[in-house]
Amino acid sequence: MSGPPPPPGRAAGAAPRVVTVLGTRPEIIKLSPVLPLLDRRAAQTVVHTGQHYSYEMDARFFEELGLRRPDRALAVGSASHGEQTARMLAGLEPVLLELRPDAVVVQGDTNTTLAAALAAAKLGIAVVHLEAGARSFDRRMPEEINRRAVDHMASLLLAADDVAAGNLRHEGIGSDRIHVVGSTAIDAVVQVRDRLDGARVLDRFGLTPGAYAVVTAHRAKSTGADVLPGLLEALAVIAARQPLVWPLHPRTRAAMQAQHLAMPAEILVTQPLGYLDMLRLVRDARALLTDSGGLQEEAAVLGTPALVLRDETEWEYLVAAGVQKLIGHTVRSVCDGAAEWLTPEGLASLRARPLAVRPGAAARAVETTLASL
Ligand code: UD1
Repeated sequence: MSGPPPPPGRAAGAAPRVVTVLGTRPEIIKLSPVLPLLDRRAAQTVVHTGQHYSYEMDARFFEELGLRRPDRALAVGSASHGEQTARMLAGLEPVLLELRPDAVVVQGDTNTTLAAALAAAKLGIAVVHLEAGARSFDRRMPEEINRRAVDHMASLLLAADDVAAGNLRHEGIGSDRIHVVGSTAIDAVVQVRDRLDGARVLDRFGLTPGAYAVVTAHRAKSTGADVLPGLLEALAVIAARQPLVWPLHPRTRAAMQAQHLAMPAEILVTQPLGYLDMLRLVRDARALLTDSGGLQEEAAVLGTPALVLRDETEWEYLVAAGVQKLIGHTVRSVCDGAAEWLTPEGLASLRARPLAVRPGAAARAVETTLASL
């Protein structure tokens, strides 16, 4: 390994000590190609904050992706953002003080990402941020607050693409700390793509390939009282024309209950699905309607057109590539977007632009991380 001499406390030639922190479904998935590589090349401790904790949102993904169990579990569970983040900070600090790693690796934009980066930065431990530089430019989004804060605490910023790297430079972060490595979400799909035919989700729900659309929506904005009723109304209109399947996130279920909203009868609702079932469902759908970040990239790799239920996206390159469209989240915009793009011609025009994906992000991320320590 090249790079500067080892920091005090690490013997020359000893494997670098890395603590990787995760806590939610997307972090488990997007780190799944990275964790085994770090186990091989570094002395890695995996810490699970417990932000997500139910079998459907957590343990199932470790099983499906063949990942070893985390070394430490903080079990913070659900709470308000402040309370949840504070519990994580209080849980992480003693772990980091005990382990004194050379670096803490975090991914994405969740409260887990923020807490781990903050705990590490305050202790003078290097923070490595995967998916650095993603921006929606909507500062009201909790995810935007988290990723901006984390990027400015990180010592190594691993960006998915040139747009993200440009965002970081524009914010004054030195180019020497920014590396474009690609997206590990793409690696995650590529590594399981051959197993999707074995996923039985279509049989379970009586679905015909190419005849249905998939919807997911769980962001704070989508589940607010100003947006969710209209979104449900628009989705009911779409579901009246073709089967619409919605694996419902616990946040959305809770928001519907709190707002006394009923699920339109036309929509086929399922529990949150496993990774392979979800990818199979998306692969064989005529279209995906989503507010999720990860699913936008997954749909693109699987060749399924996506209609994004937002006004902006961190994955601008997918819009530029012509494989997805932003259709907003109001009754009007979603119905108009569906009328324009959920037609045979509209979908054919989105499908006509195959996306060239660049696998290998996980390996590049690990190489770059180790070279920096
Ligand atoms: C978090 C991330 C978001 C990511 C999403 C993926 C933040 C700020 N947001 O939002 O970026 O896209 O995860 O899912 O970190 N719940 C369960 N079972 C679980 C997990 C959660 O029932 O296993 C419930 C909780 O009780 C809570 C709700 O779901 O009421 C939301 O959980 P929360 O931890 O706030 O995060 P997400 O909304 O999932």
